[in-house]
Amino acid sequence: MGTFEGRSVIVTGIASGLGSALAREFAAEGANVLGCDINDEAGAEVMDGIGIYRRTDVSKEHEVEALVDDAVQRFGRLDVMVNNAAIQVEQELAATTEEQLDRVLAVNLKGPFFGCKHAIRAMRGSGGGAIVNISSVLAVAGDPMLAAYGAAKGGVLALTKSAAVKYGRDGIRCNTVLPGDMQTEMVEAYFAAAEDPAALRAQAEGEYPLGRIGQPREVARAVLFLASDDASFVTGEALVVDGGLLAECY
Ligand SMILES: NC(=O)c1ccc[n+]([C@@H]2O[C@H](COP(=O)([O-])OP(=O)(O)OC[C@H]3O[C@@H](n4cnc5c(N)ncnc54)[C@H](O)[C@@H]3O)[C@@H](O)[C@H]2O)c1
Repeated sequence: MGTFEGRSVIVTGIASGLGSALAREFAAEGANVLGCDINDEAGAEVMDGIGIYRRTDVSKEHEVEALVDDAVQRFGRLDVMVNNAAIQVEQELAATTEEQLDRVLAVNLKGPFFGCKHAIRAMRGSGGGAIVNISSVLAVAGDPMLAAYGAAKGGVLALTKSAAVKYGRDGIRCNTVLPGDMQTEMVEAYFAAAEDPAALRAQAEGEYPLGRIGQPREVARAVLFLASDDASFVTGEALVVDGGLLAECY
């Protein structure tokens, strides 16, 4: 029997990368998975045979509210909410436009905020649950070209702690994972935009004490741990899953 047998799980941003790995891992552990994205074709393909796809733009509160209500209606309750969807806009702080900042904050910070808010609403009425927010090592370290992204991810870290301390007594745990680079479409696009993509990839991998960037499944397994009963006394935690990147000081 899988760890999440019969449990109800929402994962946002399942059309690619970490989100698709999360949907597959939860489904393989027996969960009823409701996955959302704005990329309908890829999203439906990922969920085919493993769960249900629902189009949801996480930056719109009424859509996130409807997503959570859909899970409760279909499965009777919501046990796990993973706020994973995000976008990346490469721009140094001094050149970031208000429009770029608004878009990044809308998807990467308001999205998880709405996800927490509505998951908590559903979980409070049914004895609790577990929320995992996907942040980044850039919540606690800087990248010269990802100022808005880093600001949003720092916000996700703070949001996680606020939710954990307020709703623990309702049986709700809220944790966050801070991944380092993973081999996903987001990072591939980042490398591809460089003058010399191969050199940037080699440089990035060289910065990791494990000598490589991560695979989405390696981060997904950490998320499943935090969402599972094995982590029943873990809340408000920021779990770094980065191949040792932040441990090194030079
Ligand atoms: N890839 C990395 O190296 C890395 C490192 C640290 C943190 N992260 C974080 O991990 C998470 C997953 O990243 P990834 O690399 O898999 O990204 P990705 O770009 O491969 O996937 C993100 C998914 O989110 C979806 N999405 C974008 N905007 C959306 C919206 N408004 N509503 C719903 N869905 C939307 C996209 O369509 C896509 O399917 C993100 O939170 C990201 O910030 C990634």
